[in-house]
Amino acid sequence: MARSLRVAVEYIQRVKSALRRNGYPSQKALATEVGFSLSTVKNFLSGKPVDYLYFVEISEKLGLDWQEIADKEPEAQPNHNSTIEETSPFVTGSPITHPRHFFGRQKELKRLFNLLKRHPLQNAAIIGKRRIGKTSLLHYLKNITTTPVEELRPNQKSDWLPNPENYKWIFVDFQDPRMASKERFLSYILENLGMKVPEGCDLDNFMDVVSDKLHHPTVILLDEIGVGLQRCPELDDEFWESLRSLATNQTGGNLAFVLATHESPIELAHHTGHSSPFFNIFGYTATLGALSEEEARELIASSPIPFAEEDVEWILQQSQCLPLLLQILCRECLFNLEDGETDDWREEGLRQIEPFAHLLSG
Ligand SMILES: Nc1ncnc2c1ncn2[C@@H]1O[C@H](COP(=O)(O)OP(=O)(O)O)[C@@H](O)[C@H]1O
Ligand SMILES: [Mg+2]
Repeated sequence: MARSLRVAVEYIQRVKSALRRNGYPSQKALATEVGFSLSTVKNFLSGKPVDYLYFVEISEKLGLDWQEIADKEPEAQPNHNSTIEETSPFVTGSPITHPRHFFGRQKELKRLFNLLKRHPLQNAAIIGKRRIGKTSLLHYLKNITTTPVEELRPNQKSDWLPNPENYKWIFVDFQDPRMASKERFLSYILENLGMKVPEGCDLDNFMDVVSDKLHHPTVILLDEIGVGLQRCPELDDEFWESLRSLATNQTGGNLAFVLATHESPIELAHHTGHSSPFFNIFGYTATLGALSEEEARELIASSPIPFAEEDVEWILQQSQCLPLLLQILCRECLFNLEDGETDDWREEGLRQIEPFAHLLSG
């Protein structure tokens, strides 16, 4: 018998919700009741190893069968799933990269995958304010069709493409200063396509390699393209014109661009003094706004500890279903439940969403 035990990954959610079900308003209340330190209780609830005796005792207090919930291989290396469980359920700073944390946008996804699932692949632009969720959507497009189902939420749609394994996705972040160099950009694309990078990679030999060898459906995601246009003089009209010609007539319909920007590509090109027809090839434009109420409710319901109905309504109303504001308010509400603090988490929530008030207007 191992001296310490941990809750198996698949039981963590159930264990967390058992806290309230058994009348403990907070982790601290349970710690006081069993007479162990708060950190032992926290470790138990988050699936970290705790001493066998504590494990059995806490399980009993929560009305759980310790043999059932214990990880059967307590010494094993934590696997991929456990890392996901242990990450915060609400992501509030960086873009969402794991599909499990992404909610909504079903209408846009349907349209975007429709453009990408048949030949010729077609180009699209995603437009929206800072922090509305453009980068998260690009990552989602790239990852959702090939993420193993066991890493997704139940009922999360992933069969958008008939043969997802044939697709190549390349994510380009123009905020990355290396992408300001034409040679770096072109080499990066070739590396990601698994093609040989010619020495002194320039536009000419790049075009030769790609038009000759691109036989799989390929989607190049261009994030923050406005930054590329404004700050990168090397990325001139000739460069954009070449990309357009690749997509429209040199790759047999196998190549599409999806770009993200805060204004329409045509206006963007205009403002930044570009005249390339590249910016006219984006036939479909998705403008991102709030989630639907149903999608917002799904995000809120993903909390490992269920929220009270009146808190759910308050979060919906204050966030106006904008994903970042939903995430922040859910994080505050959950923090309050976990730590059993009684002071007003709503005030703190409002303070935390204040810097993003620009999302609420218009
Ligand atoms: N579909 C989504 N589901 C859940 N949260 C989202 C979603 N889209 C955006 N968010 C939230 O908004 C924040 C900002 O998203 P991000 O993709 O970085 O926006 P943008 O690229 O438009 O500036 C993320 O950290 C996350 O909290
Ligand atoms: Mg972004």
